[in-house]
Formats: sequence, structure tokens, C-alpha cells
Amino acid sequence: MSPTSAIAIKGGHLIDPGTGIDAPKDILLKDGRVAEVAAPGKLKQAAGAQILDAKGLVVAPGLIDIHVHLREPGQGYKETIATGTAAAAAGGFTAVAAMPNTIPVNDSPEITRWMQSPERGASVRVFPIGAATRGSKGETLNDFAALKAAGCVAVTDDGHPILKDSVMRDTLAAASRVGLSVIQHAEDTRMTVGASMNVGPVAFRLGLRGMPVEAESGLVERDIRLVQDLRSDKVHLHVAHTSTSKAIEAVRQARRNGLRVTCEVAPHHFLLTDEHVGHYDTHCKMNPPLRSAADRDAMLEAIMDGVVDAIATDHAPHASHEKEVEFERAPNGITGLETALGLCLAWLHREAKMPLGRVLSLLSAQPAAVLGLRGRGTLAVGSFADVIVFDPNVEWVYRAAEGKSKSRNTPFDGWTMLGKVRWTVSEGRVVYGN
Ligand code: DOR
Ligand code: ZN
Repeated sequence: MSPTSAIAIKGGHLIDPGTGIDAPKDILLKDGRVAEVAAPGKLKQAAGAQILDAKGLVVAPGLIDIHVHLREPGQGYKETIATGTAAAAAGGFTAVAAMPNTIPVNDSPEITRWMQSPERGASVRVFPIGAATRGSKGETLNDFAALKAAGCVAVTDDGHPILKDSVMRDTLAAASRVGLSVIQHAEDTRMTVGASMNVGPVAFRLGLRGMPVEAESGLVERDIRLVQDLRSDKVHLHVAHTSTSKAIEAVRQARRNGLRVTCEVAPHHFLLTDEHVGHYDTHCKMNPPLRSAADRDAMLEAIMDGVVDAIATDHAPHASHEKEVEFERAPNGITGLETALGLCLAWLHREAKMPLGRVLSLLSAQPAAVLGLRGRGTLAVGSFADVIVFDPNVEWVYRAAEGKSKSRNTPFDGWTMLGKVRWTVSEGRVVYGN
């Protein structure tokens, strides 16, 4: 279907946290944008539009995942931009922000543009995140203005956190001058050498070296001090995949002090603990690692009480042959794009009683706000025609083998999900469902 043809989504219940609408509405998408939102049966310009019957379904802004690894360039055997974004579309995501730990590292406008080229075959919008330093080596800053001009929406060295105070301070200052956020994977890697899971009784039982909580919280506290010292409201620090109560407390305090510090939490960190590693299950190996029950509960609490700005998956595909090795040798990471909505609806909405609108906000409007993605995460007239239509009541069992991602490395294989995506529309094109 051509992107210019119109789509009318009729008979659904529209929930748009951005505009506060939570009511039965019809919506018209035209030329890649939201053209009209009207009471049921009252669309004025819908003549000739393709009709999606959303009776009994929820219509909401397309989800936005601000932390994914799409593996291209360089590791197409794990995932490609085409397969990763197909997984995104199946999971209800219409935009993803792609981490720069590709091969080569995305530290240039050329790679940034390559990732966004139509030849990659992306089903949904890809927003590249540029490396903060050359080769993500933590030494020399990249040209942030050039990265931004090419399409980068933030900078980070992700899995290679910036340890040197001076480099991190310069990164925060330089990024703020061009209006980019700095994302930090908070891990003091001097404290995690040789560690493959969380420190604690499980690591002790398995004979594995553990990562202390302070490796995360210590770096978050250091980064917040740097933000404070810079004394500029243009400086924005975003803490990736927060996993410890101590780090969340530091973010909470920074916000009380009026600093622009935001954070995200991944579904696995509010659902699983290091006990799930069980008998060396490499599908429960990721970085940051699964933590104690107390930390897991703190993540859930922080999501409920509003300290957490966004749910992000840290979708990190790895091939089976890479995961089917000794625990310590297996790479970190699990997939997440196809399970996030179903897990959030089951556990945040149904179990923890978070209103549906808030769950959707954590997956759309709020992540859009974190990275300043204008015209995304809302269905206000004029915004991008990024929409999902889903049945909030259907339970289904996730089978990794049937997923769209190239990789199968998930601890949620066989889990029961709540809420089934019926259609995903990205910039006016149906990219999932028919
Ligand atoms: O679990 C993770 N996977 N953590 C990281 O820091 C990197 C990521 C990956 O790229 O696989
Ligand atoms: Zn990551």
C-alpha cells in the first residue's frame, strides 16, 4: 500500500496519553500524519480511505523503544535493521533508537546515514544514537553537531561506559551545546572485571564472580555530580537500563534538586531476579545483570511512583551458537521488542493495577519526551501517523521460535502475555497485521 493512501481506524477506544484522550474515537491517517480525530462515525475527510475495524480494540500511539541493538552494520547474523524493525512492528513499536555498538561503531555521519537509508528495509523509524567518543574508546569526543545533522538523537558509549571524569564532563557539555542527550550505561567497569552476573548468594552458589550494585550506582552518582557542576539546564543525562535501588535513589534525588536527569528500566529488571539464572541459564545473562528481589521490587516501585521516565527493552539479539556455551563465555543480552507490551500489560496493568494510559505513556509519550522526538508518541492532529491497534484482553503464549527477530535469546519463551497487537501503522503504512 502506498504511504499516501488514507487509513480510517474506526470503532476503537482511543487512548492518547499525550492529549489526555481516553474515549471512543475514530481517527484518520493521511499523508503519513494524523489528519483527524473525531467522535465515532463523525470523520469528515474519510471518503475513499482504507478502513481498519477497531471495534473492541484500543487505538494508541505507536510504541517507542529508546534502547535497542539492531546489529547493523557488522553483525547481520544476529539481527539486521530489517529483521529488528520487523520485530519492533510485531511488538507494537513504530520507532526505535539504535545503539552505536555496531561493527564498526557508529561514530560517524556516514554510518548514521547508512543506517537510515531506505535500502536497510526498515519497517519502522530508526533513530540512530551516535557514539560519544571515537570508537567508543572513552578518549576523544566525536563531532556531535555532525552526528546530529546526520540524524542522531543522542550520544552514548553504551556498553563501554565513559569512566574518565573529564571526558564525561566534556561529553555532557558538548552534547548540551547542540541539544543532544547523553545516555550512560552506568557501570564502573573497574569493579566488574571477570563478573558475569549480580553479586550475591546465587553467584556464590554458581561459583561466578558477581557485579556489585555500587558499580552501577557509583557511576550514576558521579555522572549526576558532573551534571550539577555544569550548572546548565541544557545538560541532559539519561541513565540507561537502571537496575538497582541505589541508582534509582540517586536519580530521584537529582530530580528533587532540579537536574535534568532521566532514566529507563527494562521489563526484565522489574520482572526477574538473579534466581532466574538458575543453573547457568544464559538467556538470563545480560548487562546490567538480573539483581536481587529487593532491587527488582524497587524497579517496580519506581515505575509506579513516576521516577522512571520510560520502559526500554535493551533488545540485544545474539545467535544461538553464541548463547549455547559456558555461562561466563556467553555474550550479554536478551531480545525484547516482541515481549515488552505483553509483559507490561500483564504485570504493570493487570497485576500492579497501573492504568492502561500510564502504561502506554511509559512506552510512547514519555520515551519520546526523553529524546525530544517531536511529533511522536501522541495522536494529536498533525503528528506522525504512528499508531497501534491492540486487543487489551487477549492472553497468548509467546513462542520465541515464531518471532520476527533473527535471534531467540529470551528468558520469556513460553510466558503468557496480555494484549495482542492487531495492527501497527508506521508513518501511515500498515507494517504489521493486515
Ligand atoms: O546486555 C547487554 N547487551 N548489555 C550491553 O551492555 C550490551 C548489549 C549488547 O550489545 O548485546
Ligand atoms: Zn544496551
